[in-house]
Amino acid sequence: MPILTIKNWLDPVLRKKGEPIENIDDSIVTLSKNMFETTLDARGAGLAANQVGLPYNLFVVDMGIEKGEHDLITVINPVITAMEGEEISEEGCLSSPELYAEVKRALKVELKGIDLNGNEVRYEAEGFIARAFQHEMDHLNGSLFWDNLGKFKRDSLKRKFKKKQKELKA
Ligand code: NI
Repeated sequence: MPILTIKNWLDPVLRKKGEPIENIDDSIVTLSKNMFETTLDARGAGLAANQVGLPYNLFVVDMGIEKGEHDLITVINPVITAMEGEEISEEGCLSSPELYAEVKRALKVELKGIDLNGNEVRYEAEGFIARAFQHEMDHLNGSLFWDNLGKFKRDSLKRKFKKKQKELKA
């Protein structure tokens, strides 16, 4: 299965909101499989569809990552239905390699959506996986984690990011 190209934070597609998926056809199933492969290849915890250039309302998350296993799930048209607590922790993104920042998130979340078979799914998550869900939801809303940092931190992160992009192109 092909590994997809992950778009970086400066790509306008990262600002597109996920279009609701009405019909789970073969193209969605294939996209999801390819996103699994791409996430594993990049050693990531999750990936939103717009990160591979397709602004659909879909993300994948590796639920096994804390146990050192792989258990990838696809959630279509996800919605966070409950949040509890608060936690500040370091966060990264496959669209911004080697760039991390402290981000405040809810400690626990409940997430609802649809799986590839069209069945309703519901997950309760805490800590790292709750953070991953919130991070991927941000992508589906066209947000990136530097949007929510203070201006000084955001600008400094952007400078670092642009420098890294130049190094990668050089
Ligand atoms: Ni990300």
